[in-house]
Amino acid sequence: MQCSRSGLVVSLSCLQVALGLLHLALNRRHPMRYGKHDDYKQKQEEQRPGREKAEGNDSSQKPPPPLPAEDRAHVPARCAWFLQELPACLVPALLLAWRNPPRLAPLGCKLLAGMFCAHYFYRTFIYSFLIRGRPFPLKVLFCGILFCTYNGFLQGYYMIYCTEYPDDWCNNLRFTSGLILFLLGLGINIHSDHVLRQLRKPGEFTYKIPQGGLFDYVSGANFFGEILEWFGYAIATWSLPAFTFAIFTLCCIGPRAVHHHRYYIKTFTSYPRSRKALIPFIF
Ligand SMILES: NC(=O)c1ccc[n+]([C@@H]2O[C@H](COP(=O)([O-])OP(=O)(O)OC[C@H]3O[C@@H](n4cnc5c(N)ncnc54)[C@H](OP(=O)(O)O)[C@@H]3O)[C@@H](O)[C@H]2O)c1
Repeated sequence: MQCSRSGLVVSLSCLQVALGLLHLALNRRHPMRYGKHDDYKQKQEEQRPGREKAEGNDSSQKPPPPLPAEDRAHVPARCAWFLQELPACLVPALLLAWRNPPRLAPLGCKLLAGMFCAHYFYRTFIYSFLIRGRPFPLKVLFCGILFCTYNGFLQGYYMIYCTEYPDDWCNNLRFTSGLILFLLGLGINIHSDHVLRQLRKPGEFTYKIPQGGLFDYVSGANFFGEILEWFGYAIATWSLPAFTFAIFTLCCIGPRAVHHHRYYIKTFTSYPRSRKALIPFIF
């Protein structure tokens, strides 16, 4: 395969930024409907037969319309996260394997395998099997699979076929600072996932106030870690697709951190007021 830098890479990268901005615009007011912002249970409750009678209305005349199929379809969280994240791990791994000749020696391939694939290996094969989340909406899962396939291809294709690093890139300040940021973000993200998991017993779906680690400073500690990670990866690899993915991540989970923060303040009167939404002490 030849590198099509100005054609394929630039087009897919621009599309990724456009998707991120669209996501930001759509989710500024209303959160993405999964996890604590999925109102499926509430809608079910509102449509339960007998509810209108209890409220003094005559429900016998007109039965409530059933929930639309796309609102009803949910998948167990473990299965959903596994299926959603798998393409982001698998597509670059297959591109690496199909590389002709298949070798990891070029630095671009090593960075792809050691950073991007390592993160998605964790997300696909460890996070998915430990998660204690509520069932996941099928339509969000479908979008997640499409995005992870697209992003896995873009990052893999660019790092394998387009990058050329000078021999001393590993001594370059961009590489070392990016790698440190990436590792710091990964550590925060994994630790925050662990804190959230410990809030629940198996089979429980209630929400509690997360405590410890970066959660003492922000409501979206896991999201802050992930955003750091991808900006670190972008700096370390100094690649256009990695920067556009970092921007996409910020547009995607930045608003989610804000909506989580609002949810906690609304739900828990004892929620620590000094805690910020996404960036410690600042925002
Ligand atoms: N790169 C990207 O663009 C991108 C996009 C999306 C997600 N991600 C990453 O994927 C991971 C998961 O994302 P997410 O949106 O699912 O995160 P989340 O909303 O914080 O939920 C993470 C897990 O913790 C549970 N949880 C959250 N708050 C809780 C609380 N107060 N009490 C008890 N349990 C709680 C959730 O259960 P419920 O499901 O039942 O709420 C879920 O199982 C994050 O690390 C995120 O950074 C990355």
